[in-house]
Amino acid sequence: MSIRPVAHEFFAGGGLAGIGLSGDFDIGFANDMDAMKAAAFRANHPQVPFHQGDVWDLGSLELPGRPDLCWASSPCQDVSLAGARGGLEARRSGAFWGFWRLMQGLEAQGRAPRLIVLENVVGLLSSGGGADFAAVCWAMTELGYVVGALEIDAALWLPQSRPRLFVVAMKDAQGPSTAGPRTPFHSPRLIAAQAALPDAVRRRWRWWSLTPPPLRNLDLASVLAPDAACDWFDAPRAEALLSLLAPLHRQKLEAVAASGERRIGAAYRRVRREGDGKHQRLELRFDGLAGCLRTPAGGSSRQYVVAAEQGRVRIRYLTAREAARLMGLPDDYRLPARESAGLKLTGDAVAVPVVRTLSQELLRPALTAAARAA
Ligand SMILES: C[S@@+](CC[C@H](N)C(=O)[O-])C[C@H]1O[C@@H](n2cnc3c(N)ncnc32)[C@H](O)[C@@H]1O
Repeated sequence: MSIRPVAHEFFAGGGLAGIGLSGDFDIGFANDMDAMKAAAFRANHPQVPFHQGDVWDLGSLELPGRPDLCWASSPCQDVSLAGARGGLEARRSGAFWGFWRLMQGLEAQGRAPRLIVLENVVGLLSSGGGADFAAVCWAMTELGYVVGALEIDAALWLPQSRPRLFVVAMKDAQGPSTAGPRTPFHSPRLIAAQAALPDAVRRRWRWWSLTPPPLRNLDLASVLAPDAACDWFDAPRAEALLSLLAPLHRQKLEAVAASGERRIGAAYRRVRREGDGKHQRLELRFDGLAGCLRTPAGGSSRQYVVAAEQGRVRIRYLTAREAARLMGLPDDYRLPARESAGLKLTGDAVAVPVVRTLSQELLRPALTAAARAA
């Protein structure tokens, strides 16, 4: 019989949160409404009971056992969480509230998890003028939890810039915390958002403590496929893209090319407002990091790899396997067969080592401390 704590994974996508948690927790249940994600989840975690469907169609009685942790990576579009305050018509306006309804059900049945994590974009701190973040924290404290949050950039572990917000709620559990905010995980915008919370919520606030990892030793080049195995764009296509460089980015590329060394960068096409019009621009970075992976919605949101070497500049798309490595997935992770599906799965996901660190340093110790105190 398992004596490991059990986590339920909501909005599970390809199951990256569960992979990060798996050293400390068994995954007892997972849910996602997307058919492609569901297929990928099942291919990688055949042992985990998986519910494919809208979280609003789930009842708490369908959730097995008494989970120790419920993890929710609710969709970023949810950043407008007005549904909490909007009454019945707003029922489907926020998937987070569909999840929260389940937490209320578990509480009513005496099966509430001791730990709840909400992962979301950092925009949650400011959307609705701070009201959405306040609504989430208020809901958590109202159900008897203490609450705190951390802003964590996956770039501390992986060569990808990916800041995300993790709201962590605990009851009957004692996570390590500090008396006040600490860098780097209590960012200025998080501190400002916390200061704006109602007093009743602030009284139940905790500054969760997490130690930053040792210096990252991976860079973007280290996760890329060998040049010869890649589909580089032909010269006219590369030229067309380079013609979109804004002056500052052109200077950056010229400086890199002039160095003579092989340099690897990443780029996105963006639409920028300049003067009185909108322009397509190619924006480059050569700081060893990829830009934040995004869900591909049209060509402009696909990330490019740019290689400058001996005066020559080559460009290609970042592949789904490379994107998976940028999320901290091992190469035996089974990606969907379609490249676009693999990019969607990885672009939506949570970075595995960030979850692993939260699990090892905050979540599991919180349960252990509570068990000792009991
Ligand atoms: C930000 S992604 C989370 C991905 C996941 N953490 C991972 O690492 O792959 C949000 C997920 O929520 C799912 N989703 C959105 N609305 C939903 C709903 N109402 N019910 C269930 N799943 C939903 C999407 O299909 C998507 O996979």
